[in-house]
Amino acid sequence: MDRPAPVLVEITERLERLPPMPQTVSEVMQMSRSEDFAVGDLAQVVCKDPTLAARVLKLCNSGFYGLGKEVTSIQRAVVLLGFEMTKNLVLSSFVHSVIQGDFEAYAQTSDGLWEHSFGSATACLALAENTAPDLVEVAYTAGLLHDIGKVVLASLLAERFQEVIERVKTRRIPFPQAEHEVLGTDHAEVGALVAERWNLAPVLREVIRSHHHRDVEVSEPRLAALVRLADGVCGILGVGAGFDATDADLDDRDLALVGLDGDKLQPVLDQVMARVMDVRGFRLF
Ligand SMILES: [Fe+2]
Ligand SMILES: [Fe+2]
Repeated sequence: MDRPAPVLVEITERLERLPPMPQTVSEVMQMSRSEDFAVGDLAQVVCKDPTLAARVLKLCNSGFYGLGKEVTSIQRAVVLLGFEMTKNLVLSSFVHSVIQGDFEAYAQTSDGLWEHSFGSATACLALAENTAPDLVEVAYTAGLLHDIGKVVLASLLAERFQEVIERVKTRRIPFPQAEHEVLGTDHAEVGALVAERWNLAPVLREVIRSHHHRDVEVSEPRLAALVRLADGVCGILGVGAGFDATDADLDDRDLALVGLDGDKLQPVLDQVMARVMDVRGFRLF
């Protein structure tokens, strides 16, 4: 369906109003793509942003990661948390600041959408650790950002909410399909545009887009599967699940893509669900 012109204009305006990715965050994201950096470099970048530096120390001292010792130096905190965890915290801190406002059109509060994003990131990372170690570096980010398009579309959708629900009820179609029919696009497609605006790796744009569109061609089908499975796990557990998760399920095709068929599924699923429930009540920020 063609996108109605007035909606397209509004989407473009909202995309432009979206905060750019702060220098600190893009520097850390860039570092994660290069082989050539030292922990000292990462600590230096974190120090440039006092809020971030405080959050790194807070996480380190929270006991959440069981470090069990008072840490006062950023350098030490970064060493203890490790590069991946520090990077995840830096990105999470930014995403948390962007997830603000009213997400009622998706049956979520901003806290709910944050909880869902953080839960999906955790599930995606845990799934990758068990099934695709080569994707561990990107799994958390992909899970964290999969629903980011809602930040742009929530208020637009709210204006057309009755129409969307009417379609869901009368034709029994999935929510994202009704969203697409009414707006001419949906939060998965718009999420990919957000990722583009933030200069994220192309593979992230693809998997964000494909989380409600399995037919989208992706260069890393296992990562796309991990994101859909993580989303499904959060849907099943009711972790910040919105309308788009009402059909939450683990698709056999995705399970097969990451080798989680047969007897292998249950032990991994138990572990992943336990990790998600662990972080559920944790106030990272
Ligand atoms: Fe979604
Ligand atoms: Fe989701």
